[in-house]
Amino acid sequence: MRLMTRKSCLEKSIGAVFVAASLFVSGGLQARANPAPAPTLNRTQTAYLTHCGGCHGIEGVSGPTFVPMLRDTVGTFACSEEGRRYLVQVPGVSMSLIRDDQELADVMNFVLFTLGGKSTPATAKPYTSAEIHEWRQSPMSVTDFMERRAHILQNAVAACQTHKPT
Ligand code: HEC
Repeated sequence: MRLMTRKSCLEKSIGAVFVAASLFVSGGLQARANPAPAPTLNRTQTAYLTHCGGCHGIEGVSGPTFVPMLRDTVGTFACSEEGRRYLVQVPGVSMSLIRDDQELADVMNFVLFTLGGKSTPATAKPYTSAEIHEWRQSPMSVTDFMERRAHILQNAVAACQTHKPT
C-alpha cells in the first residue's frame, strides 16, 4: 500500500515534469518563431559606444573613476561658450578616431541632449560640424587639466544662474 502511494506519487511527479517540460519546449519553440525584437542602436549611438562608451559607460555613467560623469552632468558646460568649446577640446573628443566632423557633432549632440539630461540648458545650441572642425584643431593638453576644468566649470555654473528665470 505504501509502495502504491509512492508509485502514484512518482507517476504524478513524472507527469508534472512532463507537462512542465512540454510547456517549456513549446514556449521555447514559440519564442524562436516569434523572437522579441532585439534592441537596435543607430549610427550615432554605435559610434558613442565604440569610441567613448569604454571609458564613459554606455549610459554616460563612469562610476567612481577619474573619468568624469556625463549623465545629467555634462550639460552645465553648455551654459557658456567657453564650456561648449571645452567639451570638444578634451583629448578624448578632439583626438577621437571619429574623424568625420559631422559624425562627431552627432555624437556630441547625443552626449549633450540625451546623456546630459536636465543638466543641459533649454537654450543650448546643437554642435555643428564647422564648430567641431575648428575646435578639434586646438586639442586641450593634459597639463594643468583639472585646474583649467575647475575654472571653466565655475564660470559655466555662474552662467547657468543667469539663464534661470528669476
Ligand atoms: C580612454 C578613455 C576615454 C575615451 C575613449 C573618451 N574619453 Fe572622454 N574623458 C576621459 C577622461 C579621463 C576625461 C577627463 C579629461 C582628461 O583627463 O582627458 C574625459 C573628459 C570628457 C568630457 C568632459 C567632461 C567633463 O565633465 O569635464 C567629455 C564631454 C567627454 N570626455 C566626452 C567623450 C566622448 C564624446 C568620447 C568619444 C568620442 C570620449 N570622451 C572618449 C576619458 C575618455
